[in-house]
Amino acid sequence: MPTTLRYALPILLGLAILCAVSYLLVSSTSRSWFEEDVRLRAELALRGARGAIAEAWGRGDRAALAALLTDITSDERILAAAACAPDGTTFARTADFPGAIGCRRFTSKSLGGSQPHIWNHAEGSVFLSALPVASPSGVALGVVGLIHDMSYVDQRDALTRKAALGLFGAMALGALLLTSGIARASWRRFRVELRSLIKGEPQRPEFHPLLQDVRELALQLAAETRTNERAWTPQRLRQVLHDHLQGERVIMVANREPYIHERDPNGGVRVLHPASGLVTALEPVMRACSGVWIAHGSGSADRESSDRHGRVRVPPGEESYTVRRIWLSREEEQGYYYGFANEGLWPLCHIAHARPSFREADYEHYRRVNQRFAETVCEEVDREDPIILVQDYHFALAPRLIRERLPRATILTFWHIPWPNAERFGICPFREELLEGLLGSSIVGFHVQGHCNNFLESVDRYLEARVDRERIAVVHGGETALVRPYPISIEWPNSWAQHAPPPAQCRAQVLEELGLDKDALLGVGVDRLDYTKGIEERLLAVEQLLLRFPQFRRRFAFVQLAAPSRTAIERYRELNDAVEQLASRINERFGYRAIILQRQHHEPPRVFQYLRAADLCYVSSLHDGMNLVAKEFIAARDDERGVLLLSQFTGAARELSEALIVNPYDLREASDALAAALTMSTREQAERMRALRALVSELNVYRWAGRMLTDAARLRQRDRLSHRLENGLSTIEGVA
Ligand code: G6P
Repeated sequence: MPTTLRYALPILLGLAILCAVSYLLVSSTSRSWFEEDVRLRAELALRGARGAIAEAWGRGDRAALAALLTDITSDERILAAAACAPDGTTFARTADFPGAIGCRRFTSKSLGGSQPHIWNHAEGSVFLSALPVASPSGVALGVVGLIHDMSYVDQRDALTRKAALGLFGAMALGALLLTSGIARASWRRFRVELRSLIKGEPQRPEFHPLLQDVRELALQLAAETRTNERAWTPQRLRQVLHDHLQGERVIMVANREPYIHERDPNGGVRVLHPASGLVTALEPVMRACSGVWIAHGSGSADRESSDRHGRVRVPPGEESYTVRRIWLSREEEQGYYYGFANEGLWPLCHIAHARPSFREADYEHYRRVNQRFAETVCEEVDREDPIILVQDYHFALAPRLIRERLPRATILTFWHIPWPNAERFGICPFREELLEGLLGSSIVGFHVQGHCNNFLESVDRYLEARVDRERIAVVHGGETALVRPYPISIEWPNSWAQHAPPPAQCRAQVLEELGLDKDALLGVGVDRLDYTKGIEERLLAVEQLLLRFPQFRRRFAFVQLAAPSRTAIERYRELNDAVEQLASRINERFGYRAIILQRQHHEPPRVFQYLRAADLCYVSSLHDGMNLVAKEFIAARDDERGVLLLSQFTGAARELSEALIVNPYDLREASDALAAALTMSTREQAERMRALRALVSELNVYRWAGRMLTDAARLRQRDRLSHRLENGLSTIEGVA
């Protein structure tokens, strides 16, 4: 039923009842007036002739009586008359007195009084009245029966009815127009207010009290929720997905695949877990959510392990989601991945003193690969408003390309590395297109607020866009992209830590393998061999420690697990050589293997074994979005032992304040911290580790994903509401 009619119907009904009641009242009143009128007319008609009638009747003069009666009927509203004897016989009558009525009708009524008796004839258009006539001596002679023409009453009745109906019609129309006008005006106003409420825009003053109430309620609820908040677990994340997304699949775009099928030298296929913070974080999320992870199929045995569409169910043995592999040619990989992403954007975004290289041909590949991933997203979605997660600097253009194909998608883009300040970002020749690409997202996420601010500054400086600082959003080309910090984390409880042998066992094994004494002090570093990780500075800090605190010489060894990474890039090869030379130099200087360099890929169980064995872990990144090795070390130490040294230039340093926070460039400070860690009491170690574990257990990766997906779901809900409002309005406009 159209909305206007729905509002107007009760009013119309009320009006109809009112009109019907008024009509009945008016018509019964006017009817009684007419009857009174008839009675008076009958009396009047007879008053003058009553004497003559009584006399002619007394004489038995029928002809004279008939003539007198005919006189009476000269009144145009008296149709006929008869003199009726008490026994019901007709004594005299006018010529047109209808035989069908007859005198009995008049005499059957009480003739006792002098008042006329009026009753309604069955046909409704005539009235009969009877007036008693007596002789001068008082003997009752009978009654004069009169037939009155009442058609004029019917006509007036019909007229009244018509007038009442007309009035009702006019009032109904008026009410309809009025209601519709009011409804439309209120609806429009409501819609405008609701829309601005949804968009979080400033409200009209009348809405302020309401808004205030709603805000207070929301704050109260949030506070209650916080106090009752349960830990974030895979089950809770699943529940969130179920509650907010009706359990729908998550489509994720990320360059690095979580499982790499590699051909091994003896012809078999083995599955590798790549050394990647992104994979560390997202793999457990996908296990909890299910869905599709669209990635570059980079393993030598990937093709043969996938179906003809490049799909493979993972994790092997406990399949819960799909990896959809995209095959890239050598040129594409060179231009898109090594060239633009890792020689351009990576050094651009990290303050690590590497000069970015921007080559047009690389950018062309980057653009085309982004296009291919966007097309694959469209192949994988199963609704017009899906939720799509785009990961990292490999896909700055993909959000816009997806948006063009799926205008109603909720696209959440997460940038896993830092975002530089506007001035630095400005050196990129493709800066506008990159920003516009990212602004195709519904939400752009970074690890920390500082990176969000840098991004907003870059947009402000290089695009024709409005930065809404209140909502922390960018309004560009009629679209809004929210900008939010979501600090990433690791799974908790951590499956690798749970399946690892006890710390004492790990320690014994590691020390034995490395040929170290049982009471040796062990430091560990775990990284991809990347110049942003500050590996050289780390080794130099160890050198300073041994120089400044000779008591640790030959007792302390630092093992660096360094996974070779991006070795097709010269800067990475240089780093490889530099680290090797540095380690050799330090070892030579102190005459023992103070630095144990292990340059190879280590699978997670091995990494966790080292993390559990060490006395300290040093994360010395020169610049890092978050750094998950720091959090993995904390997860590994359920024995509450070990000290974390953490660079102040990591996102993690904002959260992990119980770590020893250092400036990796300041070798004195760093070596002091190393010495402090090696001499820290077990009690202090436990206190710090307990606090760190409590923090990471709470701020785990399920919370990261849960908050992002909840925000995305809320945003989609608003979009759906706006969409319905638009449709609703056009329907109303159609009706009205
Ligand atoms: C960083 C990036 C990730 C990337 C990882 C490993 O953490 O933010 O996107 O997966 O490094 O790098 P790779 O180039 O080996 O994938």
